[in-house]
Parts: sequence; C-alpha cells; structure tokens
Amino acid sequence: MAAVLRIENLKKSYRTGRKSPRREAIDGLNLQVDAGQILGLLGPNGAGKTTTLKSVLGLVNPDSGDIWLFGEQGINAKARKKIGFLPEQPYFELYLTPRKLLKYFGKLFGLQPSGIEARISHLLSLVGLTEEADLSLNRFSKGMLQRMGIAQALISEPEFLILDEPSSGLDPLGKVHIRGILEDLRQGGTTILISSHQLSEIEDICDAVAIIDRGRNVASGCLDELLLSEDRYEISLLEPALDLSAELPPSAKWVGEEKDRLSLRRVDLNDALKLIIDNGASIAGVREERLSLEEYFTNRVKGSSEGTEE
Ligand SMILES: Nc1ncnc2c1ncn2[C@@H]1O[C@H](COP(=O)(O)OP(=O)(O)O)[C@@H](O)[C@H]1O
Ligand SMILES: [Mg+2]
Repeated sequence: MAAVLRIENLKKSYRTGRKSPRREAIDGLNLQVDAGQILGLLGPNGAGKTTTLKSVLGLVNPDSGDIWLFGEQGINAKARKKIGFLPEQPYFELYLTPRKLLKYFGKLFGLQPSGIEARISHLLSLVGLTEEADLSLNRFSKGMLQRMGIAQALISEPEFLILDEPSSGLDPLGKVHIRGILEDLRQGGTTILISSHQLSEIEDICDAVAIIDRGRNVASGCLDELLLSEDRYEISLLEPALDLSAELPPSAKWVGEEKDRLSLRRVDLNDALKLIIDNGASIAGVREERLSLEEYFTNRVKGSSEGTEE
C-alpha cells in the first residue's frame, strides 16, 4: 500500500527561555499514513502532536529527520494542493460569512470560478451550515466555527486531510456529525490524519493509531491488536457468586462491584470455569478482555507524562 505520509526520525526542539537550554518537543518520531487510511495521532497535551503536523505542512522547521509526502521528500507546491488542513485553533476574519470565506479559500487554491459556487454549497450542506451561509461568522458558536474550519479544509477536495483536534469544543452531537463527515470522506477514498487527546473519539473513527508522548512513539498499530489485552479473559456469571473467592486462582479478580464478572489469565481459565460450574454457578459468557483506549493509554503513558504541562 502506498504511503501518503512517512516521517522518519523527526526532531524538533524549542528554546524555552533566553538562557534556558532548548527542549525537545519531537524526539526521534516515526509515523506512516497509508493511502485510504484514517490514522489517529494520539497523545496527552504537550506530546508533540501539533508540532508534528506543522512540520509536515512546512509551518515549523524541524531540526532533523525526513518527511515524505506522496512519495516525495518535503512539502512542495504540488503536495500542498492535495492537502487540506484544519489547525488546532482555526482563525477566521469574523466579519466574513461562510460563503465569502470559502470563496476566498477557493480562490487561494486556484479553483475555477465556475465550480466554486457549487463546491461551496456542497460543503456548507456537508457541515450543516447551509442556512447560515450568509450570516457573519462573529455570530457563530465554537462548534459552528469548527465545522466551518472543516469545510475550509475540504475546499480543494484534498486527497489527504490533516485535522488537529477536530472535536475540541464540540458538543456530543457535533462530534457525531464530524464523525459522519469523516466516514463519508473515507468512503470516497480520502486519507485522513487526526490528532487528538480525546481517545474515545478516535476509537470509533480510526483504522490505526500512533500513540506518542514527549515527542516519542509509545505504541502504534491497529486498534484491535493494541486493545486486546495480553492474555486476560473475562468470565461473566448469570448471578453474583458470593462464595467463590477463597478458592479462585491467583490471577483472578472480580471486575466491578458485583461478583458476577471475573477477570483472569488464560492459563487459569479452565480451572476457574470448572470451579464455577462445580459450585453450581451459571456462566453467561467468556470473552477476551478488550481495554478501552483510555485504559490502554493510561497504562502506557502513566508515569512518563507526569510533569507534562496541560
Ligand atoms: N512555539 C513554541 N515555543 C516553545 N515551545 C513550544 C512551542 N510550540 C510547542 N512547544 C512545546 O513543545 C511541546 C509539544 O507541543 P505541541 O506540539 O503543541 O503538543 P500537543 O499538540 O501534543 O499538545 C510542548 O512541551 C510545548 O510546550
Ligand atoms: Mg496540539
């Protein structure tokens, strides 16, 4: 599969004060986004997500490392035309209306005047702002401005969409709406890179994630592989089993308040099942344990992110 973006050993340090030493914001980062993929770039605040995305776009000059876009090194005019970008804090001239703003961006991208109107109507309908098309942006809520930012990022029908924390400031409905838009884009073959510290959102949208912390890779891969915990299983019982605990294998622990879900290692599974049945309890189900991304993330970056600024 062709890589739309490949980053190798990226480094970027910032000066933190006039006399202070430089601090590594990105410290040897690797990343790959394949064509047609939705990749989630995950990490706590200060992990280096925005710096990474800005480096890709040429808005930040890395100290070292290599960035390939569409198979070519660095960002050039040709690549720029194929990329749509939603910055973390989109800034708009608030006296403009959505229609005027999109027209402006359309011209910037060299869209044919004949096609611009139709493109704008399509985008406004996509992000649910048709009725507000001629309303001044200073009357928009944060969520509406965020949707405007997405429309702006899509003006040139980009092959590669880069979104920096697209769901920040959105209410649950707004988040669902954006997820729908991204799923439609994926169907249409758009490659998407999304940064987020809000894990539950990425979980539903992304094919794969790259978890970073302090400018370094922590883990990456397909979500199912990352989230299926090493060798733990969960047995659920039809009724809480009140008398079992004394005899259970050492790896077994009850999940939650009620004694009706038991988590344990695979090697202890047979013994535990036999014990439960011998005790007259009924088994409702057995499944491999899947951590939530939050749990996984907390486990992986715990300790290492202490002291990271919010
Ligand atoms: N312009 C800058 N000057 C100095 N330090 C910066 C600058 N931009 C980012 N940083 C620092 O680099 C680190 C990574 O920041 P950033 O890329 O914004 O992380 P994220 O987007 O994951 O929250 C943080 O420690 C941040 O304080
Ligand atoms: Mg950021």
